[in-house]
Amino acid sequence: MQKGQLVIKPLTKAVLPVAGFGTRFLPATKSMPKEMLPVVDRPLIQYAIDEARAAGIKEFCLITARGKDSLIDYFDVAYELVDNLRQKGKQDSLDALEPSSIEAGSLVALRQQEPMGLGHAVWCARSFVGDDPFAVLLPDDLISANPGCLAQMVEVYNKFGGNVVAVSEVPIEKTSSYGIVKVSNDDGKLIEISGLIEKPKPEEAPSNLSVIGRYILSPEIMNYLAAMERGAGNEVQLTDSMAKLIGQMPFHGLRYNGIRYDCGSKAGFLEAQIAFALKRPDLKSSMRNILKKYACEEEI
Ligand code: G1P
Repeated sequence: MQKGQLVIKPLTKAVLPVAGFGTRFLPATKSMPKEMLPVVDRPLIQYAIDEARAAGIKEFCLITARGKDSLIDYFDVAYELVDNLRQKGKQDSLDALEPSSIEAGSLVALRQQEPMGLGHAVWCARSFVGDDPFAVLLPDDLISANPGCLAQMVEVYNKFGGNVVAVSEVPIEKTSSYGIVKVSNDDGKLIEISGLIEKPKPEEAPSNLSVIGRYILSPEIMNYLAAMERGAGNEVQLTDSMAKLIGQMPFHGLRYNGIRYDCGSKAGFLEAQIAFALKRPDLKSSMRNILKKYACEEEI
């Protein structure tokens, strides 16, 4: 695709940073990756991969760490299990496994050897990215949307190229938990971004529009990440290098249609369980009864 001088390469690669310790979910995450925690019956990583696939992504790169190999096993063929299920004629269970299968050679895993921040995690994928645009999906941010959030962002990317991030409003007192955008133009859906600050105090925040865990980035970002400058929390922040791309190429924020569940927090994770169970035909009615029961008991 070509627009003026700007060549817009198709987006086919995604990086999924999954190296974090998941300390907010200890002790559960002592011996299992937080991205393997299930919402209903699928691990968080599966939702992120599904959303990426639906947006046209063909190649995946997991940035993992020690103790997180079960994420890689999850996408492998579980030969003994499949064989056993086949012998027993358990077609339903075989069908349930289907989403976790991935085309041979389309998933790579790299290790972030030290927890130096999200920017460093993304930089670890530089060889995988090469000269191509790439998406970053943070599986903690579970987004219920149709079409998926990344697919909505791809529409914007295919039109303008450059960089696209998903944004959503947060209460002003929460700006210090997010990357916050400075807005130069806002048509209610699409935002032209003129600045980005990682985790500003409310009084220093340029808006209450936060970046959430979906990004389409230009490969040039790797040059800035390579400097390994430390930012908020003394970590190498992705936001700081994104900010350096502003002015050099298009940089848009998209108020996507959908609901984001912050599965990095306990309350958000529990809300996601309820919301996703209510969407399932096999669970909807029992879930409603359970909710009614507790709503009465607690006099909510
Ligand atoms: C990361 C990013 C931040 C973004 C957030 C979205 O922060 O650094 O800019 O707003 O994800 O979930 P973290 O949640 O890792 O602290």
